Amino acid sequence: MSTNRTDLIVGDILKRIHEAIVEHDVTYPEFQAAKQWLIDVGEAGEWPLFLDVFVEFAVEQNANRAREGSQGTILGPYHLPGAPVLEAPYELPRREDEVGDPLLITGEVVDTHGQPIAGAELDVWQADAAGFYSGFEPSLPEGILRGKVITGEDGRYEVRTVLPGPYTIPLGGPCGALCASAGWSPWRPAHVHLIVSAEGYEPLITQIFFDSTEYLDNDVAGAVKDDLVVKPERQDDGSFTFDYEFKLEPAKVPANA
Ligand code: BEZ
Ligand code: FE
Repeated sequence: MSTNRTDLIVGDILKRIHEAIVEHDVTYPEFQAAKQWLIDVGEAGEWPLFLDVFVEFAVEQNANRAREGSQGTILGPYHLPGAPVLEAPYELPRREDEVGDPLLITGEVVDTHGQPIAGAELDVWQADAAGFYSGFEPSLPEGILRGKVITGEDGRYEVRTVLPGPYTIPLGGPCGALCASAGWSPWRPAHVHLIVSAEGYEPLITQIFFDSTEYLDNDVAGAVKDDLVVKPERQDDGSFTFDYEFKLEPAKVPANA
């Protein structure tokens, strides 16, 4: 017997909304305010932001609950395809006067048996030290702090960048207004995003967080996991470095293959 997933899932979500209305005695003015807010989210183009902030973490945790290898977390709205593949010294494109402590990320991509994976791709993107992403903040040159590196025969990689800053979701729109009204922190802790992929393996969408940063305990997007928090070592020249191993699980065979 086939199951109608729309009936099942949307029907259940609506049932739970109806129950919350009764449980919290939602008034007509509150209903009208909610309706206007939903319209505002659409008009401000904030549906992707809303879903990535408030919903994606639950989908990610559930979808990857049986994942072997490294932990993943949410993709978020700021990935852009087509970043350049970097050559040695593997420096993410940056402005001449890029602010922020220099950061060297090194490590290895391995399979679930610990064997190195040569030719794996790490697609890396991050906010600048002020917490802004190129391609989304008009004052930033296009393409900065975005790039790909490929592992060598030994499965190792290197990326040179600067420490990103923490940032808030946009405060001026309806998602920011929701946080303000509910008393929720709008901050995300500083992080670097990665998609690690290799032929024959499940791609790993993840983020690396820094133990020195604020907001690890109250990420508005709920995306922090203990395994994803690193402690960069400070070098004599004031730069930072850390090593991180990404373990990829074998590609899943589609159910209908
Ligand atoms: C991010 O990680 O870039 C992000 C995730 C969810 C919402 C907003 C930003
Ligand atoms: Fe981010």
